[in-house]
Formats: sequence, structure tokens, C-alpha cells
Amino acid sequence: MCGIVGYAGNQDAVPILIAGLARLEYRGYDSAGVAVLTRGGLKVHKAAGKIRQLESSLPKRLRGNLAIGHTRWATHGEPNDRNAHPHTDCSGRIALVHNGIIENAAELRAQLEAAGHVLRSDTDTEVLAHLIEAAGEEELDQAVRRALAAVQGTYGIAVVDERHPGRLIAARNGSPIVIGVGEREMFVASDVAALVRHTQQVVYLDDGEIASIDAGGFRVTTLDDRPAAKSTATVTWGQDAYERGTHAHFMLKEIMEQDEACERALRGRLDAQFGTAHLGGLNLTARDLLEIRRVKILGCGSAYYAGIAGAHMIEGLTRLPADAEPASEFRYRNPVIEKDTLYVAVSQSGETADTLAAVREVQRKGGRVLGVINVVGSTIARECGGGIYIHAGPEVSVASTKAFTSTLVAFALLALHLGRVRDLSPAQGKRLVDALQKLPVQIREVLHTAEQIRVVAKRIARFTNAFFIGRAACYPVALEGAQKLKEISYIHAEAYPASELKHGPLALISPETPTVIVLPHDELYEKSLSSLEEIRARRGPIIAVTHPGDERIPTRADAILQVPQSEPALDPILLTVPLQLLAYYSALELGRDIDQPRNLAKSVTVE
Ligand code: AGP
Repeated sequence: MCGIVGYAGNQDAVPILIAGLARLEYRGYDSAGVAVLTRGGLKVHKAAGKIRQLESSLPKRLRGNLAIGHTRWATHGEPNDRNAHPHTDCSGRIALVHNGIIENAAELRAQLEAAGHVLRSDTDTEVLAHLIEAAGEEELDQAVRRALAAVQGTYGIAVVDERHPGRLIAARNGSPIVIGVGEREMFVASDVAALVRHTQQVVYLDDGEIASIDAGGFRVTTLDDRPAAKSTATVTWGQDAYERGTHAHFMLKEIMEQDEACERALRGRLDAQFGTAHLGGLNLTARDLLEIRRVKILGCGSAYYAGIAGAHMIEGLTRLPADAEPASEFRYRNPVIEKDTLYVAVSQSGETADTLAAVREVQRKGGRVLGVINVVGSTIARECGGGIYIHAGPEVSVASTKAFTSTLVAFALLALHLGRVRDLSPAQGKRLVDALQKLPVQIREVLHTAEQIRVVAKRIARFTNAFFIGRAACYPVALEGAQKLKEISYIHAEAYPASELKHGPLALISPETPTVIVLPHDELYEKSLSSLEEIRARRGPIIAVTHPGDERIPTRADAILQVPQSEPALDPILLTVPLQLLAYYSALELGRDIDQPRNLAKSVTVE
């Protein structure tokens, strides 16, 4: 949420910042700004709207070798020029960009105003610029340190001060900051996406650390001014992985990459001989796994829905009770933590504030948490200390697609691994290994039906409401299908277990409300067909997402989206793909801003 970029070096910082901000626009896109240390002092330019609005409003001659920039997702104060970052102090010599929330901002604002400071925005961030000014310290890092000592909340910040040309201060508490190490130039960002075109060498700040940076290097200390030893990491993905390429949208690119993403999630992890999976990162022995009595999965939004599907796989294949819960609720309900429960945190970004807080709540009470995470080196991945990287590659579109299916693949591997330590037979294990190996090709087959799905999407786009229904392991598929549609097309969509329709929502079925029914050929198939009939009897349009082979379906459904059949445990993976394309093409038909839907942002790093 929100993006930060900073530069200290010998090049003109402005184009570097603008390109970096464009890369981070998926993190927030309601306003943006830059502060550049020019020969004539610190110059700040801000604009409501997207990066292109900022870029076109910048003076032609704005140049400097030290600068910070920000793209915003509003928390405090509406998105306008005034509330856009960077924020400055009274004198206009200090500029600061911030991700996160200062929780005691109102109290600090009152104290600053009483001391004569004039604050110009409605943001929580501005108090920090004034606190740095009020600190009255000669050295910028000391002033920042003092200011930060007064704030409660989360932050990732970058600060410049015209009295310290060439110096950039960055600090982190709960909101990511990464330093990019170049040749006689240094970069700062909230996300490596902004850095990869300049350097692959990065240093991640940890919570409670401050970095003092200039073109020649950096020094990291703790908030209480002790030196912190840092090591450099190499970014896994190159620049290309962050490019849209020939696709119209990142979302389409990421949908179309799912066969490769699935291959990567499986690579080196399947053992055909013993019918099991090897998951080196779990850091749990077979004996540890045998002691597990329950599995509890935590995540938010689509990650939570992936968790519900994962719980079905685990319970089905291991016969261990498993369920999923929104991390955002779990963290606040004072949960009972059991020592023989395996907690699993799911997050694409590895930075979602609610999921991170849930992980810390489990660990604080002595529980054991694994991460199922996409972004390598992210906070949740590091704090879990063990888990499964899904290796989906950078996901830029706000609507999660390949991370969802790759998470399901990771859960299938975990279920297989856990199952084989317990009661799953070698024959059952081998069947699953075989089915997993076929998945990338099967996903490719579904992707090849995109044009057919596009035709159906054109019809869906005419409606204002839609239902998505599915049973058992396909209920989370319905949840995810509805989530995708509402997120990017703004069509109101609700998901229900098919069995629940008659207990209330059936009242809303009419020719004006289509239902997407997720209909695998499993043991509940005939029962789901009854739900389909109930909808048909009320003249509700039906889109069936199903396997080929039942001749009754073409006469009963208005449209059919077909996927190849797999092992029942893996069907949810394949059945999700047409729903992603359905949402994408519906949004396209409606002319929506698909990669940057209204009010949303990628990676929710605030509560
Ligand atoms: C999915 O399309 C969403 N934009 C959102 O629900 C997302 O899955 C959720 O915020 C969790 O993000 P995470 O996986 O990065 O933790």
C-alpha cells in the first residue's frame, strides 16, 4: 500500500523516480509526488491522480541528484494535491514520504500546533516532518531517530533535508523498506519492483532500523543507535518479470502465466517413487509432522479463500481436522493456540498487516506457524522461519490470480507430504503425484479457451448482480470467482455453498441474476445438479463451469466453461482459471481500469 522510491547518486534523480513510481503504482494510485534537492534548494511537486498526472505537471528543468517520491493509497485525508506525499516541515527544508499509519498523529498534531507549527494537510504523515524539524538535532539521522521515538504505529519512511545535501534517511517499522546498492549510487524503495532495472543487489531493513544513505554507501543502525549488521541479497526476478510485455493488462499476463507458475511451484518437489512431496523449507521432521493434530490456515481476501481450499485438501488427504479463518478476525479474538496445531499463514505479498499480526499472535503464544508465501524475503516469510514459497513470480495486478492457483498447488504438496507421513497410501500418493505432473498442461488447455470465455463474459457484463455457487472444496472456488468479478468489474457478486441457496438467496434468482455454478464431476455432482434445476425453475441464467462428458448440461445451462478433469483434490485449481478469465473479460467489456481497480491497492500493509 503506497510506494516509496528514493535516489542518491550522480545521475538526474527525476526520471529514475518517475520510472520507479510507475513500477510501484499498483501499490497505490490516488496521488503522487516527488521532493528533489536542486541547486536552488528543496523542490516539492505533487499531483492528485496517477503518476502520469504528476509527470506531466513537473517543471521541465527540475533536476537533482538526491530525491524521494511517493505514490499514495489514502488512509488519512482524501486524495488531493495537499494530502499527497512528500510532506514538509514549516521551513520547507525537510521532506518526507511515508507508508503505514501514525496512530497517535492527532495527539502529536495538537502538541506541534501548540508549539507553533503550522500543518497544512489532513494526513497523519505530516506530523513526522514537523517532529524531525522540532527535534533540533544537527545530524539528520539523529533528528529522525528522535522523531520516531515519539510516534506509535507503522512506518516505512524516506527523508531528505536540504541542509544535508547528498544524504537520505530511511527507516522501517512494520512497512517494508529495501535499499538498492548500485555503482556509486544508492536507491531506496518500499518494493524491489522499483529497483530491479538499476540493481539486483538489495538490503532489506528490519523493523526498528534506520539507514543513513549517500551515493557511496549506507550505514544501518537500530532506533536506539546501535550498529546493525546487514547482508546483501540478490533479487531473484529480473526486470522482464515486472513488465507487462505484449499483454493488455498485468492481470491477463498473470492469468496466462499460470501453467509456468504451476511448473515452478512443483519443480524439484515431487517424488514419484514414494508418491510424496519434498518440502525442504518446512523445517519440520516427520516426527514433528506426526504430532500435529489439527491445521489452521490464516490469510486475508483471496489468500483466505485459497486457505479454505487448502483446508479441504489437507483434511481430505490427511484426515486431520483443518480449517481456515480470516487473519484479520483471528488476530483480534484472543484465539486459543494449541501446541499440536499447525498454523499456516498464506500471503502473496508476505506483507499483509493483518496476516502478519496473526502470525505474531500465534508465535507470542508459543504456536508454530508456516508461511505459504510468494515474495521471497518478505516480512511474513522471514518471521515464519519455515514454509513453502509458491514461486509464482511477481504479481503486479491488484487482482490476485497466479498466486491463488499456485497457493493451491502448494497446499496440494503440503497435503501430500503430510498425508504420506500419516495414512495416505503409496498408491494414493502416486496418483496425486501423477495428477500434479499433468496440471501445467491442463492449465494450458483451459487458457486456450480464453476466446470462448470472452464471449460468455460479454453477456455477464450486461448484468448488475451475479451469484457464484459451489460445494465443499469448490465453495472457495465460487468465493474466489465472485471476488474477482466484483473487484475489477464492479458487478455485485456473491458466493454461496450451492446447498445454501434454498435457505435464503434463492429469493433473488430471476432472469436478471445469472448464477455461475462450479460443477466438478465429484460425489456431489448430482446434488449440485439439483441446485442448478432450482435456479432454472426460476428462470435464472446459468453458467456451468464443469468437466466435459455429461450430455445433460448443454440443455440445462445457458453457457458452459469446460476444464479437464483431474484428481478431485486438484479440481479447484483448474476450475478457478475460467472464473479469472470471466472476470477479466467482463471488466474489459465494461471498460474498467483492470490492473488498478477503484479504492483498492496491492498488498494491504495497514489494518
Ligand atoms: C485479491 O484479488 C485481492 N486483491 C486481495 O484479497 C488479496 O488477496 C489480499 O489482500 C491478501 O493479500 P496477500 O496475499 O498479499 O496477503
